[in-house]
Amino acid sequence: MATLDAILFPLLLLLSSAIPTLASGFATTLDPSLMGLNLRKEKLSHFRFYWHDVMSGPHPSSITIVPPPSNASATFFGLINMIDNPLTVRPDPGSELVGRAQGLYSSASQEEVGLMMVMNFAFVSGKYNGSGITVLGRNPVFQKVREMPVIGGCGLLRFARGYAQATTHTFDPKTGNAVVEYNVYVLHY
Ligand SMILES: *[C@@H]1O[C@H](CO)[C@@H](O)[C@H](O)[C@H]1NC(C)=O
Ligand SMILES: *[C@@H]1O[C@H](CO)[C@@H](O)[C@H](O)[C@H]1NC(C)=O
Repeated sequence: MATLDAILFPLLLLLSSAIPTLASGFATTLDPSLMGLNLRKEKLSHFRFYWHDVMSGPHPSSITIVPPPSNASATFFGLINMIDNPLTVRPDPGSELVGRAQGLYSSASQEEVGLMMVMNFAFVSGKYNGSGITVLGRNPVFQKVREMPVIGGCGLLRFARGYAQATTHTFDPKTGNAVVEYNVYVLHY
């Protein structure tokens, strides 16, 4: 027992000095290099892909989970759609799948068709397979270019910040299906 104490006690002392005390009890300042981060080596990446909002057919990727009230304005104010939209390299839905846009959009404007987008772009291709970025922003769909903030990321895209620009490639008013080009600019490490 005495020998065990003799070994454990110095070890505990060593450990307690190695673990930083949390200043406020639950938060502390870390040296970024401990997480393999070099703050001077921030990268800027540009992603371009096509977002397919498929509302028709047997397997829609975009479904209305909360319809607008029947007496709603012409802007569908109150509508909520849940999406699991394919992201492809070209406008052709059969082109290579690079990820999925998972989340929802809701009609949040009474003046124009203006959506609030809350989406995770979950990439499935190449080195970004398993990584993703999160977009939360305002999307007035009838404007030529809509810009939305990138508010974060995960995997290789941890600490991501930037913006996404959406431009409608095609929209079919009969089915509601749309193909939208996304250009996303992201700073990350
Ligand atoms: C819409 O209809 C509901 C139910 O009839 C009613 O309570 C509400 O006041 C109406 N809203 C507007 C903006 O007319
Ligand atoms: C992406 O990662 C998943 C899970 O690790 C793996 O099953 C899949 O084959 C990968 N896809 C590509 C295109 O590398």
